[in-house]
Amino acid sequence: MNSATSGLIAAMGAIQLNPGDEVLIPPYSMSATAIAPLVYGGIPVFVDIEPEFFTIDPDKVLAKINSRTKAIIAVNLFGHPAYLKQLKKIADTHGLYLIEDNAQAVLGQEDDKIAGTIGHIGIYSLNVHKHIQAGEGGVCVTSDDDLALRMSLIRNHGENVVDWQGISSISNLLGYNFRMSEIHAAIANVQLERIDELVDRCEYIGNRLSEGISSLSGIAPPKTRAGCRHIYFMWSSQIQEDVLGVARSVFCKALRAEGVPIAEGYVKPLYHLPLFKQKIAMGDNGFPFNLNPKISYEASEFPVVEKCHFHSLFQFQPVSWDYTETHIEQIIEAFHLLHQHKDRLSELVEDSA
Ligand SMILES: Cc1ncc(COP(=O)(O)O)c(C=O)c1O
Repeated sequence: MNSATSGLIAAMGAIQLNPGDEVLIPPYSMSATAIAPLVYGGIPVFVDIEPEFFTIDPDKVLAKINSRTKAIIAVNLFGHPAYLKQLKKIADTHGLYLIEDNAQAVLGQEDDKIAGTIGHIGIYSLNVHKHIQAGEGGVCVTSDDDLALRMSLIRNHGENVVDWQGISSISNLLGYNFRMSEIHAAIANVQLERIDELVDRCEYIGNRLSEGISSLSGIAPPKTRAGCRHIYFMWSSQIQEDVLGVARSVFCKALRAEGVPIAEGYVKPLYHLPLFKQKIAMGDNGFPFNLNPKISYEASEFPVVEKCHFHSLFQFQPVSWDYTETHIEQIIEAFHLLHQHKDRLSELVEDSA
């Protein structure tokens, strides 16, 4: 595929999504995760995340399954796998597809399984921000031959070949041009040879930073669930404002003043986008949201995402910078310095404004 976005769309087509079908999705993700079902008239139904690993909450998934539900898209966010085996069990029990948006977790792992290989389809990104990259590009993996064929037809003008391929069920096989170019693929092949080196480096940086700040009260470094591998696409920590006694905005502003490229929150939670606030996607009559007006995108339904995004989470991308040992030590020192002076931070940050 020429991107993970195309891969997500092809996956939604391949599972033969119908207009009005519902797809359960965490609202804390890049928008591509949620636009994919809309392309086929499917409706994204957001499910809150759990607070430790920022991935879709399986208990809340169960509460949202109904007769219109067709699939779950689990996002292996920030490089850490969602509760994939648990979600696969839920999907199998209820006759749903589990799709993994694995754009951020190329060698993430849950027990003995590589992220992206537990669901019915796994989608990887090769864009310029990822651990291995080809400028642009994406990969879909599945062990289901029919899904593989359908995704390949959606990638490359399926309508032209369904007759001579003897395919009788032709829904959603309108073709796009989602082909990855030979040049991008050649770059991806070379990057693939370096995958362990590139992923190990990010994992090392993430673990070093976490160890370095582990003694600081009120700052919780990223956690890794037992049996999982976190590959730190983002090193995503949380400030416990009540314990630290300092607002996240103040602490992060001070960190940036020390030269640490830190960002507060992640991308805007998806229900805050005009697309979902106004429920306008295809045409201007509200399709496909008008097929089920009861589906709500009110922020109050997603308290964990709201808290993480607006109050606790801060992060930076080990993937985007060429950190040396000195940089890592300087970052850890900056955290300790600011923590030592936390009682004066609000005043200092205000003075510098
Ligand atoms: C979770 C997630 N899904 C999908 C995408 C889309 O990837 P691409 O740029 O390859 O289309 C991204 C890109 O950053 C992402 O982070």
